[in-house]
Amino acid sequence: MNLFGNTAPPEDYVSNPHAFLADLQRRGGIGFVEDRNMWVVSGYEPLSRLLRSPSVVPGGATSFADRSPAFRASLAHQIRLWLKPPFSDDIQLAVSPAVADAVAAVLEGDEADLVPALAHRIPMRVMAALLGIPTADLPMLTELGRAVLSGYDLSWPGRLPSAARVARALIRAYFRQQLTARNSDEGPPLRQAMIACAVQHALPEASLHDAFGTLVTAGVTTTASALANILVRLLSNNTSGVGPAPVGPMAMWADEFLRLDSPILGIRRKIDADLEIDGYQMRRGQELLLLTAAANRDPDRFADPHRFWPDRPNMAHLSFGHGAFYCLGAHLARLEITCLLQALAPCLHRFHASAAPTRTQGWLIHDVTAIPVSISPGV
Ligand code: HEM
Repeated sequence: MNLFGNTAPPEDYVSNPHAFLADLQRRGGIGFVEDRNMWVVSGYEPLSRLLRSPSVVPGGATSFADRSPAFRASLAHQIRLWLKPPFSDDIQLAVSPAVADAVAAVLEGDEADLVPALAHRIPMRVMAALLGIPTADLPMLTELGRAVLSGYDLSWPGRLPSAARVARALIRAYFRQQLTARNSDEGPPLRQAMIACAVQHALPEASLHDAFGTLVTAGVTTTASALANILVRLLSNNTSGVGPAPVGPMAMWADEFLRLDSPILGIRRKIDADLEIDGYQMRRGQELLLLTAAANRDPDRFADPHRFWPDRPNMAHLSFGHGAFYCLGAHLARLEITCLLQALAPCLHRFHASAAPTRTQGWLIHDVTAIPVSISPGV
């Protein structure tokens, strides 16, 4: 396979990128792709060092669009604190009913596609509840969010890079309208707090719209993909002897699922100042592709790296990134995953895959488009 060349990824990569990534890593943790002017890093140690380096800056779409120091020090910082444990009651109240209702609705039928029914529905409802967005608008926003996220992937012929820009502009326009008659006394606490914080720090309106848009893009689509990947693994019973139904501390399961099947396979960066790493000279202006999914299975960091081993020592995977731009919804995502695992534990034996799952085509996004199942009657 051409190393992340200007072509669409082949089908065997889309269904299982890990064989290719492991092979790449065996051939060395750092390499250079001439036609993209891009360094590709797959070793855990150099990769986490680069994510902490001040000479390496965001170059893609998953960080907040507004990178001004005023925004990062105020609103972005506050959101990080709000979404941390101990979770406020409104966060618990957003997650638990969303999961319970979605699982109950699926169990009423005798067949389902678990992607829309669980993986998309849960994070959409959670975000609608947290941000005070009408539920009816969420499918449209999620589709736009998916288009924004696809802009983070590597380009290939026939793919429209402008689609991501257009989608981002539409999301921003949606929130411009949705927050026009804004009143910080109305809506759920997180929405009120975000508005109040933007007013207090005199942030431009556009920054607030971007913050809402980023929470939808980064918070719904990535969590939906993570849940879908987990469902695929649970249904294929590919948890290496631990058993098909989750037992034990679910939070550890959540992290082991994320280590093995991260929806984001790599993080893109730019080199802002010349630097040297492990003898390689990286130059200002060059691109960096940090293959976190490969690093998550680096045998020098994780013993028996391809095995599902929830209570493994030294978990610290890189699926939420690392350093200054570490995911600010990581705890919320873990809460949603844990809650779904708990809800599924008593009924997972009733789900049977009725066809192979289908996947999104992408070099860096590992996502599922359909998980058809039949559901046997409860006992
Ligand atoms: C399993 C689900 C998730 C995964 C795998 C994930 C992954 C990531 C990754 C890898 C980054 C770092 C990007 C970089 O360094 O350029 C990131 C950043 C971010 N994530 Fe998540 N994320 C998830 C869920 C969420 C949720 C639920 C939210 C919101 C509630 C969220 C909001 C954000 C935001 C706003 C950033 C940008 C942080 C910044 O620029 O400082 N994510 N996420």
